[in-house]
Amino acid sequence: MDDGKARTALVTGATDGVGRVVAERLAKDGWRVLVHGRNRDRGEGLAHAIERAGGTATFLAADLSSLDEVRRLADDVQKATDRLELLINNAGIGTAGNAPGRQTSADGHELRFAVNYLAGFLLARLLLPLLKASAPARIVNVSSAGQQAIDFSDVMLTRSYSGVSAYCQSKLAQIMLTIDLADELRGSGVIANALHPSTYMNTTMVRQASVSPASRVEDGAEAILQLAVSPALEGRSGLYFNVLREARANGQAYDEKARARLRSLSYELTGLAEA
Ligand SMILES: NC(=O)c1ccc[n+]([C@@H]2O[C@H](COP(=O)([O-])OP(=O)(O)OC[C@H]3O[C@@H](n4cnc5c(N)ncnc54)[C@H](OP(=O)(O)O)[C@@H]3O)[C@@H](O)[C@H]2O)c1
Repeated sequence: MDDGKARTALVTGATDGVGRVVAERLAKDGWRVLVHGRNRDRGEGLAHAIERAGGTATFLAADLSSLDEVRRLADDVQKATDRLELLINNAGIGTAGNAPGRQTSADGHELRFAVNYLAGFLLARLLLPLLKASAPARIVNVSSAGQQAIDFSDVMLTRSYSGVSAYCQSKLAQIMLTIDLADELRGSGVIANALHPSTYMNTTMVRQASVSPASRVEDGAEAILQLAVSPALEGRSGLYFNVLREARANGQAYDEKARARLRSLSYELTGLAEA
């Protein structure tokens, strides 16, 4: 990994909350950081702040509620760099979001499933060749302790919707993706792990849910960075961490048939050919 060149990381949802702190920390540690967000002013502001502090950063804009924009983001990453040693799928919408009731993505999918899970699925799949070519490399999926088994008869929650259900099933889907990626990537030099970063960090999504913050973004950043860079994780893949400790996710994550169903659905919804 260390041939004297800066390693490159993509952090999604770096314009706010814990993603912003992770991007700043990686840059401080010498990584070139591709900071993703949908708000150009805040994204460029962060890239400039990183550069002023002596780091290297490039802002890439994309609204992850559109699969076309996810594809464009993957193209933009490949134009911006010929190496990618770290992908952190961090962007997400919380249980409350900024509008009440069920919402859909540009592609007509339930919004949290689309942004929190499906965008990361597609982004990881499109960037796998680059990650493999840059190995050793890592994928970190920022999930949550809030997990709920997916009801495959109503994945898009058209019958009974709540923001909490939508959030929790999208977060479990990220862990299921992580286990699949780990299986597929065994021996490739690319590892994939997922985590609950910290409970009720003081971020926009927690404030939107009217919950009193119970931890700091720095706590979540430390947990994410452990999976991203700690030598102790070398060769360890497909794991779920509750903050800093390895833990067990919702049982559906370990159900191979459920993962296969989610995988097929995800290929179908994103129009990718199944690997
Ligand atoms: N906060 C917690 O206590 C907690 C606990 C468990 C898990 N997590 C997970 O940690 C991750 C980060 O959460 P946070 O608390 O730092 O949240 P946050 O402060 O609300 O930040 C979320 C980030 O995701 C971006 N984002 C949201 N929707 C997007 C879209 N459609 N397209 C592109 N970017 C989008 C936001 O962009 P904008 O700035 O443009 O909105 C922002 O950069 C999430 O995956 C969350 O589920 C958080």
